Amino acid sequence: MSLTLRINGAEVAVTSEPDTPLIYVLRDELGLKGAKLGCGLEQCGACMVLVDGEAVPSCVSPADTFGGKEITTVEGLADDPTGARVQAAFVSHTAAQCGYCTAGLVVAVTALLQRNPDADTKTVKDALAPNICRCGSHPRVLRAVEEAKA
Ligand code: FES
Repeated sequence: MSLTLRINGAEVAVTSEPDTPLIYVLRDELGLKGAKLGCGLEQCGACMVLVDGEAVPSCVSPADTFGGKEITTVEGLADDPTGARVQAAFVSHTAAQCGYCTAGLVVAVTALLQRNPDADTKTVKDALAPNICRCGSHPRVLRAVEEAKA
């Protein structure tokens, strides 16, 4: 069955079954490998993408529930001024260790700074609570967020 999704600014026809979780469509059908499959249970944030400006997990919800919505993956963030700034700040602060959680974190930080460009530290920490990093790169992530605000 054909399903049309709007991903990174373009209409994309996909052929995966409509109940396939979005992350499998992104990674396996469309080759967008930025979002990672971690827990698969909406518990770790590794699979986050922007959906109409909100950071949401893509590992459980079926692809057809994203019809008519604007999906932006980490691959598409460079076209957004906030997303580009966040990506650059993550690079300049080496805010990744193994990197598995990084795409989800970049998406979550972008969503936060788009709606609250001057978010204080507590707000940042609260917003990033769903994004788990086992390496412990949180201090560098927080420094990257501060730079991305400027
Ligand atoms: Fe989706 Fe962990 S893989 S939240």
